Amino acid sequence: MDSIKILICLTTLLFMFTYAQAATLPESPPTILTPTPAPAPAPEYVNLADLLSVAGPFSTFLKYLESTKVIETLQNQANNTEEGITLFVPKDKAFSSLKKPSLSNLTADQLKQLCLFHALPHYYSLSDFKNLSGEGPINTLAGGSYTLNFTDDSGTVRIGSGWTNTVVSSSVHSTDPVAIYQVNKVLLPEAIFGTDIPTPAPAPAPVPDIAPVADSPDADGGKGSAAKASSPSSSHRISWWSVWRCLMVVVVSGGFVVVL
Ligand SMILES: *[C@@H]1O[C@H](CO)[C@@H](O)[C@H](O)[C@H]1NC(C)=O
Ligand SMILES: *[C@@H]1O[C@H](CO)[C@@H](O)[C@H](O)[C@H]1NC(C)=O
Ligand SMILES: *[C@@H]1O[C@H](CO)[C@@H](O)[C@H](O)[C@H]1NC(C)=O
Ligand SMILES: *[C@@H]1O[C@H](CO)[C@@H](O)[C@H](O)[C@H]1NC(C)=O
Repeated sequence: MDSIKILICLTTLLFMFTYAQAATLPESPPTILTPTPAPAPAPEYVNLADLLSVAGPFSTFLKYLESTKVIETLQNQANNTEEGITLFVPKDKAFSSLKKPSLSNLTADQLKQLCLFHALPHYYSLSDFKNLSGEGPINTLAGGSYTLNFTDDSGTVRIGSGWTNTVVSSSVHSTDPVAIYQVNKVLLPEAIFGTDIPTPAPAPAPVPDIAPVADSPDADGGKGSAAKASSPSSSHRISWWSVWRCLMVVVVSGGFVVVL
């Protein structure tokens, strides 16, 4: 009788011990691991007009894209091609500060070409521009002689069109197949404005370009927030990782103590 009691007691203890281990062990890792699966979202359909209307301010460029119907060409390129698309969007300020070659007397067709000139028929991540650096003229969606030159200047992507020298000042969206980068100037093609480019009398012009922050002290919120948005998430990930490692050490050493 006593031996049965002891047996029941031991079985119960063993059961409780096993149960306690089973209950604690699988329950703690999920709460810790939840932040990890989050940064792996599948690429989704991007509505370019919707995106441009909430990002930016890019309303002037969007207005041109819509009035020329180029927005449909761009959306089609994003939707229906393996290549994808890279779009350079000038801020509203870039249009309002554009004085010398005016866009006001362009024909409808020239305006359409100017819009297409801001798009490349391929998705490029920012690091892909290292490859395009010094490769010579790159074709835009405007085709023909509407080409852009790219230079990677230790991570800063410089864009040259003859008339325009500017930089990518912020990444608005970059998930294959759609890349959208903010630029500080309207890209002006030689194919429209000619090769008779006025000699760069404004000597201080290159200075704001080297330091994109200086170009627009007020309108650079996009760049600032983009830069800030990435750092907290990585430090967040790092802190979760260290918590997880710390807990693993506690669990492992706890198990050791129980075994001993
Ligand atoms: C792009 O795809 C979306 C969603 O599938 C669709 O609503 C839209 O009409 C497409 N646009 C073009 C130009 O293909
Ligand atoms: C715009 O008009 C000015 C003067 O009327 C002219 O000199 C210039 O060539 C025109 N530009 C274009 C692109 O037609
Ligand atoms: C970069 O260029 C090299 C050599 O031209 C090529 O092999 C590689 O595939 C390119 N990478 C990308 C991402 O285009
Ligand atoms: C682009 O680069 C080529 C050389 O790679 C050069 O001949 C051409 O003038 C450049 N075009 C512009 C618009 O800067």
